Amino acid sequence: MNISNKSLFKNKCFVNGEWINSANNSSIDVINPATLKSIGKVPDCGTKETHEAIKKAYESWKNWKEKTALERSILLKKWNDLILANQEDLAQIMTIEQGKPISESRAEIVYGASFVEWFAEECKRVYGDIIPDRFKDKRTVVIKQPIGVVGAITPWNFPSSMITRKCAPALAVGCPVIIKPAPQTPFSALALASLAEKAGFPKGVINILTGDAEKIGKELCSNSLVRKISFTGSTEVGKILLKQSAPTVKKVSLELGGHAPFIAFEDCDIDEAVTGAIQSKFRNTGQTCVCANRIFIHEKIYEIFIKKFTEEVSKIKVGNGLEENVTAGPLIDNLAVEKVKDHIQDAIKKGSKIAIGGKPHDLGGNFYEPTILYDVSIKAKITNEETFGPVAPIYKFSSEKEVIEMANNSEYGLASYFFSRDIGRIWRVSEALEYGIVGVNTGLPSKAEIPFGGMKQSGLGREGSKYGLEDFLEIKYINMAGI
Ligand code: SIN
Repeated sequence: MNISNKSLFKNKCFVNGEWINSANNSSIDVINPATLKSIGKVPDCGTKETHEAIKKAYESWKNWKEKTALERSILLKKWNDLILANQEDLAQIMTIEQGKPISESRAEIVYGASFVEWFAEECKRVYGDIIPDRFKDKRTVVIKQPIGVVGAITPWNFPSSMITRKCAPALAVGCPVIIKPAPQTPFSALALASLAEKAGFPKGVINILTGDAEKIGKELCSNSLVRKISFTGSTEVGKILLKQSAPTVKKVSLELGGHAPFIAFEDCDIDEAVTGAIQSKFRNTGQTCVCANRIFIHEKIYEIFIKKFTEEVSKIKVGNGLEENVTAGPLIDNLAVEKVKDHIQDAIKKGSKIAIGGKPHDLGGNFYEPTILYDVSIKAKITNEETFGPVAPIYKFSSEKEVIEMANNSEYGLASYFFSRDIGRIWRVSEALEYGIVGVNTGLPSKAEIPFGGMKQSGLGREGSKYGLEDFLEIKYINMAGI
């Protein structure tokens, strides 16, 4: 591995300021999805280690919440500076364990750091309220306080930025965190912890446990000392965590699956729409919750859009993400490849045609060709299930009303995109889409200052922006009499 700061590559968990193994010294292998070779082992922790980490995090809470916002902000800024100073090494680690092209890993490290920087500022503005009381001798004030220990369960598709998007606001308002990264991508998380240690966060405030997802997740959700769970991952797992958190009535935020509609109206700039479709569909080889999954094209521009889109997709260079000119890496594992195959075969059986791709890549392993399907049936699996792979299914539509109905016909409500130059339509369609995120004339709407999150079965709560602090705060009112 080509990293200059070797101390970033940790193979132990970080709990209460110490680097530890699992209680019985067992470990799990981490596989590079491009080469299918092991890149190292991390501890296989479970219930016992999680229980202990929660206790330590809880003990650290007393001092952490008593620090001023300015004191916490200074530490977060140091962490941000260290992440940026080590961005190339962090990007290398990410590509090796996750597979994404090195240019995307570099962009993700900067994106991830932007949450730390953002919340280092935003925590200084956690304002309360004064409520005019109905009685002359009484006064009421509202204050906001940190909720307590936070369990952050993060996914493999964004191994760094989903950690900072959850932990930066939690830490900023005075909550300690226990992070459980995805088993596929623990090294990016451990590298972030080592930089947090360098930044000087007090012991117990940031903890990372790798290992058995089910056991760690269950303990985080059921332990009453944990007051908040923040999860990014599938809707299926999100529902399990929500259930497990119910007996202790925890606050839960969930960033779950998506099935983003992407609409190109007849009045759009077609080249702009093609660029947006490439960005939103093929980023991270189609493995984002906000990927365009159903591409609706107006009948008047249907043929020309497919032609231009196919030309652009043919330029995607598939390969090992460490090679500088590669623009699409492998899928995360064989299961992901099988799902892509299944969705394509099913769509073809139901009448879809292939514009480009449609089969495993010659490189073998987890590599799959970027694929465009058109004339896709609304009965195809791909129309109703998230693929999480490099497949773009295209549908023809003829009216605004029809396409809004098609777009909203989903249990998911995370991201949506449309391209139009008609200002009236932009307002109408933005308001009609039942999605938490609407990208208008852009395929990349994510950034630190926006409230990322979904409606329906795409989740609960918002991350990023000023709203991203709310999930880690309790509201308290103080009613004073005898004034
Ligand atoms: C995700 O896919 O979960 C996050 C994508 C983003 O932040 O843009």
